[in-house]
Amino acid sequence: MTATKEPGDEPTNRQWGGRFAGGPAAIMRRINASIDFDKRLWAEDIRGSLAHCAMLVAQNILSPQDGAAIAAGLEQIRGEIERGEFAFSEAHEDIHMNIEARLAELIGPVAGRLHTARSRNDQVATDLRLWLRAAIDRLDAAMRELQSALVDRAEAEAATVMPGFTHLQIAQPVTLGHHLLAYFEMLRRDRGRLADCRRRLNESPLGAAALAGTSFPIDRDTTAAALGFERPMANSLDAVSDRDFAVEFLAAAALAGAHLSRLAEEIVIWCSDAFAFIALSDAFTTGSSIMPQKRNPDAAELIRAKTGRLNGALLALLTVFKGLPLAYSKDLQEDKIPVFEAADALELCLAAMTGMVRDLRPDRDRLRAAAGRGFATATDLADWLVRAAGLPFRRAHRVTGAIVKRAETLGVSLAELPLAELQAIEPAATAAVYEVLDPARSVDSRTSYGGTAPARVRAAAAAARQSLARERQGAV
Ligand code: ARG
Repeated sequence: MTATKEPGDEPTNRQWGGRFAGGPAAIMRRINASIDFDKRLWAEDIRGSLAHCAMLVAQNILSPQDGAAIAAGLEQIRGEIERGEFAFSEAHEDIHMNIEARLAELIGPVAGRLHTARSRNDQVATDLRLWLRAAIDRLDAAMRELQSALVDRAEAEAATVMPGFTHLQIAQPVTLGHHLLAYFEMLRRDRGRLADCRRRLNESPLGAAALAGTSFPIDRDTTAAALGFERPMANSLDAVSDRDFAVEFLAAAALAGAHLSRLAEEIVIWCSDAFAFIALSDAFTTGSSIMPQKRNPDAAELIRAKTGRLNGALLALLTVFKGLPLAYSKDLQEDKIPVFEAADALELCLAAMTGMVRDLRPDRDRLRAAAGRGFATATDLADWLVRAAGLPFRRAHRVTGAIVKRAETLGVSLAELPLAELQAIEPAATAAVYEVLDPARSVDSRTSYGGTAPARVRAAAAAARQSLARERQGAV
């Protein structure tokens, strides 16, 4: 790429070219342009401009006639963009100047009055906050959908016994409903983080102008209220130069992505032939072009992989942002790429995960059988020795270890071990011990708050369902 002017270039940019004799080199124009990605801000840009324009009129900074012409022009541009008729052009750098240039074509020089008491610096910060606020609302709704899918499945599987794992080694029996509701809780906190971020970002930078505020008698409260912001940002330098709200969003998105990747990983494992705990239907699997028997959980794998993008987006923005002197620097133009990318990836992952959670079919027999393997009720045995035989827990733990070893040697499960064998190791053992060695009994006994007993899981699912219903009522 050579840095030469292209034929037909305007000598200077109309919006800022007053003191420029020559136009930018082609490569300068290319590196400077953000229209390719920031055109996604068009609706927010128009909304912000309409609010600014109305305020200028109300404050007698702009005549009502000029204000009306500008507003009508902006509405026409909105229609053109909606209908796909708008010609976005790199020559106009970014979304703000693309719209302003078109406004000038439509209504003439009066278009130039819109930018009174405003800068692209406060304009773009306003646009991005508006965009992200709406994106957060969409993501929150998508997370609620996933929660609702998890509750439905958890309720149906409240008594489905499966092995619980630590270190991916069979640990203690749990219920599938309990396992699924663990993700409901993670999502509850993910939504809380997004809500916190939304609360803090919901202040208006508009009117901060380039960096110092303006000498025009603007009314920032009015524009803030018109755009649904809680208040105008208190410091103009901060307003145009901080992107902490975007970093917060990306951190929350990365964390939500990490949660989704864990469930995705479990789906991959559970679908594998070695586990075969669940199956996904044709709707959520793909085949192999060479191995006809294959049924691959690609959506789960891709959700697992998207964590890379989400983490990358967070690191990208933190890096762009670090060490920037106040106030605005062009570096900040790069903030949108990670924000859009993360929001898109997360929205897609949430929808795909919701689909998979609704689609997956657990194999209850296999789950139950697996829960009986790996001496999963060894802790129940130790607890029984404490309760029924009065052993100190540490001693009960040692004794149980010896019993497990004996069962292993004989190649039987704990429930299959003859009483004589048990008593040879621990004379206090009686036939009553067999009751706690059954995985279903084991989960039934875990009735502590937050525990895996089916009764607890049903109550937790009911509470979760209620909280979702309350939200829906509150949302109307
Ligand atoms: N396209 C720019 C951005 O996204 C708009 C602000 C440009 N401001 C400036 N002083 N050049 O950050």
